[in-house]
Amino acid sequence: MTPSDGGKSIQPRIVVLISGSGTNLQALIDSATAADYPGRIVGVGSNRPDAGGLERAQRAGIETFVIDHTQYDNRESFDAALIRKLEKLTPDLVVLAGFMRILTDDLVRYFRGRLINIHPSILPNYQGLKTHARALEAGDTVHGTSVHFVTEELDGGPIIAQAEVPVLENDTDQTLGARVQAREHVLYPIIVRWFCEGRINLGPDDEVLFDGEPIPAILTLPADVYQ
Ligand code: GRF
Repeated sequence: MTPSDGGKSIQPRIVVLISGSGTNLQALIDSATAADYPGRIVGVGSNRPDAGGLERAQRAGIETFVIDHTQYDNRESFDAALIRKLEKLTPDLVVLAGFMRILTDDLVRYFRGRLINIHPSILPNYQGLKTHARALEAGDTVHGTSVHFVTEELDGGPIIAQAEVPVLENDTDQTLGARVQAREHVLYPIIVRWFCEGRINLGPDDEVLFDGEPIPAILTLPADVYQ
């Protein structure tokens, strides 16, 4: 995407939403420092004032904001406040990076096609929480992470890309989770970059388009990208 402004090309504006330590946010910030980066992170927001990722953003000179969900009576009023704040930042892309809130249909529809999430499992397996523990409990030999467009179904939107990791014999949810996160820190910045370059879009029938064509299969990156 290269939104134009009176014929003058401007960079897509990215807002990242977090709730926690923000290691994925850090990977996005680092990748955005590349001279040829096709987008700009214009804001980082959190529903938790104590989210460690806010400091990461501040260190990088990025505007931060907090909309503390405990100050709102219900999901609708929280999301309405979030939409108002996001509107001011005029994002071309809203990136959920460990944002631990279920979003209302209104918000999801408002940002349709420009709202993506990373979920630590090979979706559709293990929607929801505690994905690493559940993969271990099930005796899976392969686990991983998925990047998807967000639609009304929780962790159920069209999947853009996935990365797999092996489950090792002595894995705990921490060791497995760390292996998954290492993949996320490579995969997510690449997908965000492709989105900003206009290579990835959501089609009218909720199909993922890559370079204008529906993807025949969920995207995976070559193994050497992760080395
Ligand atoms: C990631 O593992 C992501 O898949 C999930 O939340 C976690 C966020 O971790 N949605 P961090 O805050 O980026 O370290």
